[in-house]
Formats: sequence, C-alpha cells, structure tokens
Amino acid sequence: MRAVTWQGTRSMSVETVPDPEIVKQQDVIVKVSATAICGSDLHLYDHYITTMQRGDILGHEFMGEVVETGRNVRKLKVGDRVVVPFPIACGRCFNCVQGVFSACDNSNPNGEIAEALYGSTAGAGIFGYSHMYGGYSGGQAEYVRVPYGDVGPMKIPDGVQDEQVLFLSDILPTGWQAALRGQIEPGDTVAVWGGGPVGYFAMQSAWLQGAARVICIEREPERIGLARDICKAEIVNFEDTDDLVELLKQMTGGRGPDVCIDAVGMEAHGHGFMAAADRVKQALRIEMDRATVVRQTIQAAAKGGRVSIIGVYGGVIDKFPLGAFFAKGLRMGAGQCDVHRFLPELLTRVLNGEFDTTSLISHRLTLEEAPGAYEMFAQKTHGCTKVVMRP
Ligand SMILES: NC(=O)c1ccc[n+]([C@@H]2O[C@H](COP(=O)([O-])OP(=O)(O)OC[C@H]3O[C@@H](n4cnc5c(N)ncnc54)[C@H](O)[C@@H]3O)[C@@H](O)[C@H]2O)c1
Ligand SMILES: [Zn+2]
Ligand SMILES: [Zn+2]
Repeated sequence: MRAVTWQGTRSMSVETVPDPEIVKQQDVIVKVSATAICGSDLHLYDHYITTMQRGDILGHEFMGEVVETGRNVRKLKVGDRVVVPFPIACGRCFNCVQGVFSACDNSNPNGEIAEALYGSTAGAGIFGYSHMYGGYSGGQAEYVRVPYGDVGPMKIPDGVQDEQVLFLSDILPTGWQAALRGQIEPGDTVAVWGGGPVGYFAMQSAWLQGAARVICIEREPERIGLARDICKAEIVNFEDTDDLVELLKQMTGGRGPDVCIDAVGMEAHGHGFMAAADRVKQALRIEMDRATVVRQTIQAAAKGGRVSIIGVYGGVIDKFPLGAFFAKGLRMGAGQCDVHRFLPELLTRVLNGEFDTTSLISHRLTLEEAPGAYEMFAQKTHGCTKVVMRP
C-alpha cells in the first residue's frame, strides 16, 4: 500500500510499504477513506517530538471502512464505516474506566521512554505519533491496523459525508474538551490563543458551553477570517500589540478573560525578549517547548479564572509564572483529548448542525500530495487552514 512516511526533520515522503495485518485478535484493519494533517503532526515534522524513526507511517486523524476483523472483535463487522479516535485505549484499565482514555495504561508498549523523559507516567499510545507514544503506524495511508476494535472506532450512520465526521477523530472533541476544561460559567469571557483547527472547534464549543464572549488571538489572515466569520469571535492580532496581556485586560473591564485556552502549543510565535529566548533555547534543545502562550494565559486570566492547555507540550519550560497562578487562585487543566468519551454526544451535535465542520478545510488533496501539503500547512502558505487527503 501507499503511506506517508517520516524521513527526518521537515522531510516526509509517500512510499510503498507492506499492508498492515491483524496482530492481536481485538484488532481491525481499516481501509482509509479520508485522513487529515494535524497541528500535532507539525511537531513531528519539525522534530520537536522525538523518538521518530525513518520510515514511520504518520497520521492520527482518519476514518474509513472495516475490511478485516480479529476473532475477538464483537461490535464491528467488515463493511462498517468508522471514525477512529487518535488515542489508542484498552477500555478496561483504571484510567479508561474513569473516562481518561488518553492516559490508558495498556496501549503504550514503550511507556518507559516517556517515563524516563518526563520523570512521570506515560500517556496512551497514539497512531503515527513517535515511538514514545507506542510506535503505532498511522492513518495517512491506504490501510491501518486499529487495536482494540471494540473500544475506539465509532460507526457512522449511512448517508453522512466523510467531511462531516472526519474531525471527530481529533480536533472537534479536542476543541470541545479544551472548552470543558475551562469550566465555562454563564457570562464568562473565553479567550482562545490560536485560530488553527483546534482553536476553531474550541471557539465553537465555548459558545455551545455558555460563553458570553469569545476572543481569538491569532495573526494569520485566513485563520482570523474563520475565527471572525464562522466562530463569531472578537479578534486580537498578536502582532499588532506589544502588551497582549494589558490589551486583554482593557477589553474585559480590567479583569482579564475568565477562561484562557492555549490552542497553540510548543511552537508558539511571539515577539519580545522572552519569545526570542524561548526560540534560542528550543533550537539548542536546552528547553523543549516555547512557552509564550502558557505564560500569557496565566498572566491574562482573571482572578479565580481557568487556564486550559490543549496545545501539545513535550518537556520542561523556563519562567513559569507560578506566583501569578497562585496569587490569582487559578485552575488549570491540560492533556491529550479523551476522544472516546465525547464521541456519541458530539456525533449527535454534528448531525444536528451545531458545528461547522467544513469551512476550515482549505485543501482537498490526494495522499500522494502529502509532502507539499505538510510544508504548506506548516508554513501557513496558500491560505492553508486544514488539509484533508484521500488515498
Ligand atoms: N491535546 C490534544 O489532544 C491535541 C489534539 C490536537 C492538537 N493538539 C495541539 O493543539 C495545537 C494546535 O493545533 P492546530 O491543529 O490548531 O495547529 P496549527 O499549527 O494549525 O494552529 C496553531 C495556530 O496558532 C497560531 N499561533 C502561533 N503562535 C501564537 C501566539 N503566540 N498566540 C496566538 N496564536 C498563535 C498560529 O498562527 C496557528 O494558526 C498544537 O499544539 C497541537 O499539537 C492537541
Ligand atoms: Zn491531532
Ligand atoms: Zn486503558
């Protein structure tokens, strides 16, 4: 089959590789009908998430048709159309039973790598997302092996288009959980850093969860357009201000936003001394993440406010404003999305038309076009806001 493979920093290529096979009897094989490039894939592309190996198959946002099932699979049969959550979860361990599927104890066979790196316990396995996250082949391919077939994949009703539901694999539930971690209360102002695909769904989710105002902090014109026109957000272009925190306070009667969502992650842009220092330290690998947005969310948040970190981070950061976090009595939530937990409710909401799931797609391409698509999505050129590929 053909698959998108990682060949080194900023080097992806489409290769002919062996077809996947059933390895465990709970596996299913899915023939991919649509797959997308995620902002998280850019951290692999730029090689800030380590433990990639040449030839690894990428991709964790995908859907398709079940073409083979292991003997122990009960809920799925050949021919079912499914969307597959990006974290791999057993459905039975303590964390899965609590609904924290992204921290499954059984799906990451290489957990000790992450434990050594983080000095802590590892998260779940993730499709196409480095060896530290399990070394699973991803879904930017014609076929993919999906472990725990009865746990992750969700059947899609007939007559529903791929593009309506593809993003249930990641960015839609991710935006939803970003807003949930903000514990939005009626009347709250929600500020979302990043108007990329995750921010796009976080903003829509914030409204659905009761926000009174939504503010988007971005700089790319096409993403600002989506945030303004589709997500109905007030816009702050962070390139136009030297003191974003002060500006956000001015916009909110001096208090700051009640909820601050980081939908940017470890490759944040920024200007000023701290941002420059982060860039240098990350390039020299003495700091893993560029923490510009984490700091701003904490500094901007209103007293008693909530900070929700949904952008991905991979290590330790410097100059964490713990004093401000403490003095204002903030709450913080973070983590990979527990996609499985939200799928039935979010499918219903999608079918009810509560989300705009298609306006963000700027490029519909074939799998063979993936290398150029990665470059375009990473550089934010050609108005690229989201790429969907078909094998
Ligand atoms: N936690 C999860 O489960 C999960 C799931 C999917 C994606 N993610 C992460 O969410 C983040 C966003 O993903 P995406 O697909 O939207 O990525 P993306 O790269 O397309 O979008 C990020 C956006 O942030 C903007 N940005 C950069 N610096 C900024 C700053 N200082 N202030 C405000 N905006 C800034 C960029 O212009 C860009 O539009 C990534 O870190 C990704 O890894 C997390
Ligand atoms: Zn993703
Ligand atoms: Zn589990």
